[in-house]
Amino acid sequence: MLDYLRLFLDRDNPLLINLEVNSADRNDIQPSVEPELGKFLGLLVRLTGATRVLEIGTGIGYSSIWLGEAVRATGGKVVTIDNHERTHKEVLKNLVEAGLSDVVEPLLGNAEEIVPALTDEWDIIFQDGGKYLYPLLYNELFLRLKQGGLLIADDTLFRVNPDVRKQLGVYTDEYNKRVFSDSRLYSTILPVGHGITVSLKVKNDMEHDNAIQKNG
Ligand SMILES: C[S@@+](CC[C@H](N)C(=O)[O-])C[C@H]1O[C@@H](n2cnc3c(N)ncnc32)[C@H](O)[C@@H]1O
Repeated sequence: MLDYLRLFLDRDNPLLINLEVNSADRNDIQPSVEPELGKFLGLLVRLTGATRVLEIGTGIGYSSIWLGEAVRATGGKVVTIDNHERTHKEVLKNLVEAGLSDVVEPLLGNAEEIVPALTDEWDIIFQDGGKYLYPLLYNELFLRLKQGGLLIADDTLFRVNPDVRKQLGVYTDEYNKRVFSDSRLYSTILPVGHGITVSLKVKNDMEHDNAIQKNG
């Protein structure tokens, strides 16, 4: 099935194919998103007209390039965070080569330290960092997402993937449980790649707090 759908999946930037080929047998980096997820992220950015996109987990910049091409179309910007020093240099180089260094800003550091210091409000937040960050940063990311914005998390079917280390699935399972019990979000899981959970922020905190006070 994948072979068939990939026949139709053109890449939004020529560097994407090179990165796919070159990273296929590297074991010094974590895997990038699948091209169909890259395309889907590009679609969501364009569909929502998102101009402020935050990514946790840059890797070598593969997903950032998909997002970067999309914000080029909407007139926006991507901020992407990763704590890996060596790949940071690679990311800077890749963004120049992709022609996107003016719209994608890579930040080097721990997301758990950088995110709480961010003051902006985001239209789309893509969580693809270390899986332990998913539950850990849940509240911080929710707070920084605009009402009507999308919180997208990758790898959220890890819990039911026997090839994945069990602890990673524990984190993503905890994340899904948080998301699906949160009435401020309207969410679904899609079996794209290793699964993505897409959540629309339908209520802000204030409404949520008021509802809790009224009911309780
Ligand atoms: C799955 S990779 C990201 C792949 C990238 N989104 C892509 O598709 O091209 C996860 C990344 O999260 C980074 N990471 C893990 N823990 C982190 C943390 N605490 N703060 C920032 N980055 C972190 C890793 O260095 C790794 O590059």
